[in-house]
Amino acid sequence: MEKSKCFLKELNYIKDNNLRGSATKLIENLPDYFFEVAASSTGKYHPKYALGNGGLIRHTKAAVRFAYELLSDPSIGDKYSEREKDLMIIALIVHDGLKHGITKDTYVKFEHPILIANLIEEKGKELGFTKEDVALLKSVVSSHMGPWTTNNYSDIILPAPKTKYENFVHMCDYLASRKCFLLEFDGNNNIID
Ligand SMILES: [Fe+2]
Repeated sequence: MEKSKCFLKELNYIKDNNLRGSATKLIENLPDYFFEVAASSTGKYHPKYALGNGGLIRHTKAAVRFAYELLSDPSIGDKYSEREKDLMIIALIVHDGLKHGITKDTYVKFEHPILIANLIEEKGKELGFTKEDVALLKSVVSSHMGPWTTNNYSDIILPAPKTKYENFVHMCDYLASRKCFLLEFDGNNNIID
């Protein structure tokens, strides 16, 4: 249990002990490169903190933090059950976990939302997620790109978010890609409050 240490704070946002355990094991299944690469190689679609070594981790933590802060407001959070909130946090922790593919590809894989959905489908049961958990996790990770469902280099059409869960997870990823929301990080890639 090494990789999950990187997300100690984020894992503690998960209220259900069993779900936290499952999430911890799911993180261990993510490839090593996830913990090293930048969120963006060009810097075109991400804020400064998401560039360079560890950038994808900082992007991920930002997306999770947006979720946590928004869900802490009852006017938003009360629209979801505690389990649904936990699952959306888990989805955000892993949403870009296979961004460069199962083994590291030089370029971002456009279909990375589908790759992580497939990993959840494959491992979900043995990690302790219920059938319903797996369905919710898969739907929100596979549609996290929002309206950007196609690209010139791929025939794949990603699903667009439709449900309140899918829209929320996409929104948090979207906020973490806006250059105007500049979070500060310490040397261990933790957000400075
Ligand atoms: Fe993302």
